[in-house]
Amino acid sequence: MNILYAASEALPYIASGGLADVAGSLPAALCKAGQDARVVVPLYKSIKQELRDSLRFVCNFQVPVGWRQQYCGVFEGKIGTTTYYLIDNEYYFGRDGVYGFYDDCERFCFFSRAILEMIGHIDWQPQVINCNDWQTALTPVYLQIFYKHLPQFENIKTVFTIHNIQYQGKYGTEVLSEVMGIPAYYNSLLMYDGCVNMMKAAFESSDKITTVSPSYAWEILDPWYSHGLDRALTNKQYKLTGFLNGIDVDLYNPEKDPLIAKNFNTKDLSGKAECKKALIEELKLAPGDEPIIGIVTRFVSHKGVDLIRAVFEDMVADGCKFVVLGSGDKMYEDFFREMAYRYPDKVSVTIGFVPSLAKRIYASADMFLMPSQSEPCGLAQMISLRYGTIPVVRETGGLRDSIIDAGNPEAGGNGFTFKTYTAHDMLDAVRRALALYRDPKNWRNLMVFAMGCDNSWAKSAELYQGLYRELVG
Ligand code: GLC
Repeated sequence: MNILYAASEALPYIASGGLADVAGSLPAALCKAGQDARVVVPLYKSIKQELRDSLRFVCNFQVPVGWRQQYCGVFEGKIGTTTYYLIDNEYYFGRDGVYGFYDDCERFCFFSRAILEMIGHIDWQPQVINCNDWQTALTPVYLQIFYKHLPQFENIKTVFTIHNIQYQGKYGTEVLSEVMGIPAYYNSLLMYDGCVNMMKAAFESSDKITTVSPSYAWEILDPWYSHGLDRALTNKQYKLTGFLNGIDVDLYNPEKDPLIAKNFNTKDLSGKAECKKALIEELKLAPGDEPIIGIVTRFVSHKGVDLIRAVFEDMVADGCKFVVLGSGDKMYEDFFREMAYRYPDKVSVTIGFVPSLAKRIYASADMFLMPSQSEPCGLAQMISLRYGTIPVVRETGGLRDSIIDAGNPEAGGNGFTFKTYTAHDMLDAVRRALALYRDPKNWRNLMVFAMGCDNSWAKSAELYQGLYRELVG
């Protein structure tokens, strides 16, 4: 099958969050399984020069944006066996940064439509286009309105994947004709709760809707999780399903990873102790064997930072050290800075997005804390598992689907979990983890079990293929 995976970010070219990991690894897994899966992303200015240099110019054409036409170039790159198409327009993408511009709506309307225009200009035809999040939500909408009647497009099917329902692409009605170029007849397709809502339009127009874990697929039918979209989704429940993301197990491999202090595997875990020692030195924490809890996250409320804040000092008093990396809301950044100031020997805080340090934390910490209020999938807990760092998580979304509490040895647990979104339930889970940590033999068994959990793409790539096959026939 020919599958075009459309995303606003994809590794190795450009990354700001988990979507880039998925767009950089699921298509490769589909290719490995014998499919011709290709990726399309914008050609951002911040893509590294060496990656730009390896691209080949394919073609150029004009893309309608509202009542105007905009230039679009297409470049092609190869990563392993996967082909990437990069959409070039200096005006939209020749800027520092990926999102957060006043005209993001227009930038991604352009991108969503350029994807379809591109199909008429390259010598490859997708049977399925898998769009992701609001930035490519208009591709199925444009397909339905402007392209479906053309012979080249009539058999193309679309899948829309929700990575986070919080970001919907909501705008005022003025964008309908001015920016999107949507004829008035179709306005109701886009309108929701008095706004233009791009995600809602994708729910209506795509053949299937997926999300990134089975639990999140039912959670988002509930107003507590849906950010207002539960009504729109309940109507389309018949085409909604959830597949758990995988991770790139070659990129995250404790045995071969060149970015960590010492490699290790389940037979010989001594390298992990070396990694911990190196991290303690690097971050100038007091030497010693106290458990290190890693936190790598965006500092926003739905990541559960309020719970951490409420009982942080209790955890420090319990003997934990903390290694924190992230950025986000100022009040949380200030809180963590203050903790680092107050406990310089025990708490290290780095404000920012430093992928190499993130990796050293995944590899070197003893536990990884992720008490998210909601978590569509979450990749950090899977990466931690692979490096024998025991996740402590709230049972939500993909955390619920990938981490099983180790309290019951018969259940084959690989971490510690809690259900209710309260700080003291989280504290209880952390304390249960600490108790086991003080029992080295059983802790080691847990680490070995965690490292053996299969979070590769193999299983989910099968599920995606099944879904695509169902559409293509
Ligand atoms: C989003 C979600 C995260 C998920 C990722 C990849 O960033 O918040 O939970 O793992 O997308 O699907």
